[in-house]
Amino acid sequence: MPPTVPTTPTTRLTPLTSGRAAPSPAVATALPLAFEQVTRSYGGRTVLGGIDLEVAAGEIVTILGPSGGGKSTLLRILGGLDRPSGGRVSIAGSPVAPYDPRCAIGFQEPRLLPWRTLAQNVALGLPRGLAKTDAAQRVSHLLELVGLTHAAEQRPREVSGGMAQRASLARALARNPGVLLLDEPFGALDALTRLKMQDLLLDVHANAPTTVLLVTHDVDEALQLGDRVVLLGSRGDSRSDSREGSRDESDEGQDGTVVARVVAVPGERPRDRGDARLAHLRAELLAGLGIDTHRNPPQRNPPQ
Ligand SMILES: Nc1ncnc2c1ncn2[C@@H]1O[C@H](COP(=O)(O)OP(=O)(O)OP(=O)(O)O)[C@@H](O)[C@H]1O
Ligand SMILES: [Mg+2]
Repeated sequence: MPPTVPTTPTTRLTPLTSGRAAPSPAVATALPLAFEQVTRSYGGRTVLGGIDLEVAAGEIVTILGPSGGGKSTLLRILGGLDRPSGGRVSIAGSPVAPYDPRCAIGFQEPRLLPWRTLAQNVALGLPRGLAKTDAAQRVSHLLELVGLTHAAEQRPREVSGGMAQRASLARALARNPGVLLLDEPFGALDALTRLKMQDLLLDVHANAPTTVLLVTHDVDEALQLGDRVVLLGSRGDSRSDSREGSRDESDEGQDGTVVARVVAVPGERPRDRGDARLAHLRAELLAGLGIDTHRNPPQRNPPQ
């Protein structure tokens, strides 16, 4: 059974712009999803070695793992942009279709069309056949949601990286996805903008219910945003609960990655970034990624 997800209080939404929020047309329904023994090989090389994961409707699951470990592949398979070599992937109990319309994907780069305004770029994400007035209302609602009402008529080259990424998020939300897939969405942003975008994503999630699968290399981000954090690793990591010393380097990557660890993150969002429980989990997850946080710093002036 998928885990129970705490309901996000919608009263938490802080409007990013002044004035009254536009009504949200056609509110999305967050959808549950499941990977069952999903494998993916390319030319005889196994990348995903049997992924089992259930995500409840409305949950935010963050994914960590080694570079080249198949995180993007996992998202692409769920979005119907790639096919698994084996196993089953389903959304709300039915198999994923090619370019599954129930999913929307956001990437590290905003991928906006430079000759179109931000409003026009957001409109590109709308489902087909929407009446003109409904479309305009939805675009304006989404721009307000991500704090870009004032920049609606600007073009991508005229706005900051953070603003472009916010427009990209609005475009992904335009089709009311039941599942939102985000592949290192804030990876190219500076540290401060990144923190603001994390808060924005939580506001958006509270206001536009959707299930979120977010890949990141940032352990703090994973803990700040996720109801659960999924750590991908080699089969050896999973057998021994990802403790140090468990890894047989000769096996690394041979069988593809699996879910090595799933961590339920304590505390309601927004979380206190200084929470001691998070610091503990951070060290555990870093160890799972092969980073030793207990290494002594080099001594500059060793005792005589
Ligand atoms: N279409 C493809 N054809 C051949 N190999 C592929 C294809 N797509 C992905 N791969 C390989 O699968 C492996 C996993 O790629 P993927 O992009 O999913 O990793 P990742 O975990 O997202 O890495 P990173 O953290 O660097 O983004 C890589 O070795 C990649 O070269
Ligand atoms: Mg990737």
